Amino acid sequence: MIVIQNVTKTFGTGASALIDVSLQIDKGEFVFLVGPSGSGKTTLLRMLIRDVLPTQGSIIVNDWDIVKLPSSKVPHLRKKIGVVFQDLKLLTDRTIGENIMLPLEMAQMGHREAMNRVEEILEQVGIASHKDKFPIQLSGGELQRTAIARALVFSPDILLADEPTGNLDMATSWEIVKVLQDINKTGTTVVMATHNTDIVNSLLKRIVTLEKGKLVRDDKRKDQVDKTTKEKDTTKDEGK
Ligand SMILES: Nc1ncnc2c1ncn2[C@@H]1O[C@H](COP(=O)(O)OP(=O)(O)OP(=O)(O)O)[C@@H](O)[C@H]1O
Ligand SMILES: [Mg+2]
Repeated sequence: MIVIQNVTKTFGTGASALIDVSLQIDKGEFVFLVGPSGSGKTTLLRMLIRDVLPTQGSIIVNDWDIVKLPSSKVPHLRKKIGVVFQDLKLLTDRTIGENIMLPLEMAQMGHREAMNRVEEILEQVGIASHKDKFPIQLSGGELQRTAIARALVFSPDILLADEPTGNLDMATSWEIVKVLQDINKTGTTVVMATHNTDIVNSLLKRIVTLEKGKLVRDDKRKDQVDKTTKEKDTTKDEGK
């Protein structure tokens, strides 16, 4: 569960990226975060992994008080919250498998266990055959899947995806959204920042809208309000 209360972020330059934002996201939700460029979407996501601290307000993620969390606990937090960054941040001199292996190695997981985990996660996102290729050899959609796989290696409770369909054509964008929906179906909370209005308007998901740093709308769609109809709604989504 994510609880953001009265959060304001003013950067040193004086720019206010977020202004008095309050938002609660329950476990297992799928939320679209929308708004014009510069409205604060990335800043909001970065705060959830303590990449940016709020100037005012409080953020609770699961049982962690993000503002008070000691730096020594940040690596643990980042295992439980997976992030796909807007610019992916893949290492070009390592293979797809090695890119995903890296966080596991840093966490000192044994080699065999880490290898198994990498294969399992690549399979899950549908790029098992690309394990030994380098990022330059993959398409935009495959690179996005790689970044999603890396974000999922520690089976996080929450997955944050920042503009995951940014440079993709419509068909590939839908494939990526399907991957995220499948992850969400396993119980992982998914927050996706996006400009893709076709996708946002086609799915019956919650839509949180930011404008100039303020939360201006929070549309809880029917499937979120009435969980009993969720199965039916999800089936309807599939054909889109
Ligand atoms: N490190 C920073 N220093 C100063 N200003 C920043 C910093 N990061 C973001 N900002 C400013 O905060 C505002 C919100 O930026 P943010 O990147 O969160 O927007 P966004 O909604 O993600 O935009 P986009 O859709 O283009 O990705 C912008 O005005 C931006 O210039
Ligand atoms: Mg952004």
